[in-house]
Amino acid sequence: MTEPANAPTPGPRTDGDLVLDLRAVTFAYPRTPALRGVSLTARRAEVVAVTGPSGSGKSTLLHVAAGLLRPDSGSVTVCGQDMIALDDDAASALRRREIGLVLQHGQLVPELPVVDNVALPLLLDGTGREAARAAATGWLDRLGVADVASAHPADLSGGQAQRVAVARALVTGASVVLADEPTGSMDSDGGEQVLRLMVETCRSTRSALVVVTHDNKVAAVADREVRLLDGVVQHEAVLR
Ligand SMILES: Nc1ncnc2c1ncn2[C@@H]1O[C@H](COP(=O)(O)OP(=O)(O)OP(=O)(O)O)[C@@H](O)[C@H]1O
Ligand SMILES: [Mg+2]
Repeated sequence: MTEPANAPTPGPRTDGDLVLDLRAVTFAYPRTPALRGVSLTARRAEVVAVTGPSGSGKSTLLHVAAGLLRPDSGSVTVCGQDMIALDDDAASALRRREIGLVLQHGQLVPELPVVDNVALPLLLDGTGREAARAAATGWLDRLGVADVASAHPADLSGGQAQRVAVARALVTGASVVLADEPTGSMDSDGGEQVLRLMVETCRSTRSALVVVTHDNKVAAVADREVRLLDGVVQHEAVLR
C-alpha cells in the first residue's frame, strides 16, 4: 500500500548513503576560533575535496569529523551515529570500524614495522594476525611500498610514510576515508597515482572520500569542492 503524499514522515529523515554529516560545527583553540559554523556532508562513493589557504581550518575540520577533537557546538554524525554523544571508547570503536584516516603529519606507530602499522586497525578489531598481515601486504603492494614492509617508520622517506598511511586508511574498507594532504610529500606523478587509487577504491567500495588539499589536481577528480576561509565555508561547488 502506498502512503498518501501528505503522510507525516515517520521519525527522523534517514539517508543511507549519507555517511558523514557535520552541521554548524564550531571549534576554538585557546587563542584561535578555528571553525566558526562549518557544515560538511559526504555520501557513499562520493569524493569531496576540502580546500582553502593555510590556517583556514581544514585539518581541524578533519579532526572533528574523526572524533579526535570535540566541537564546541554543532553535530557530528558518522554512519548515523552521533559521534559527540559517545564516550571515548565507543568513539574509538566507531572510528576504527567506519573511518580510514590519513593525518597531515603521518602518525605511524614508530615501534611497529610498516606491515603491522597497516595491519593494526584490523588486529584491533579482531582479525587474526595472519589474515591482517596478508591484507596489509596487499595494500602495501598496491601503494608501491611492499619493499619496506619490514622497515620501521623512522627509516621511511616522507612519501613512503604517506603511502603507508594511505594503505592503513584503506585496509579496513572504511565507510568514510578522511585524508589530510595525503600526497603532499610525493612527487606530482606519484601523488597523482596514489590519489587515483584512493578515488577508485572509494568508488568501488562505496566509501566516501574527504580529501584535504592545496593541489588543483585533487579538486579535478572530486565530485564536490568545499572551500574554507578563516573557519567558514567560503564557497561550495558541485564539480561533476
Ligand atoms: N594545536 C593548535 N593550537 C592552537 N592553535 C591551532 C592548533 N592547530 C591549529 N591552530 C590554529 O587554528 C587555525 C586552523 O588551523 P588548521 O591546522 O586547521 O589549518 P589548515 O587549513 O589545516 O592549515 P594548513 O593548510 O597549513 O595545514 C589556524 O589559525 C592555526 O594557527
Ligand atoms: Mg592542515
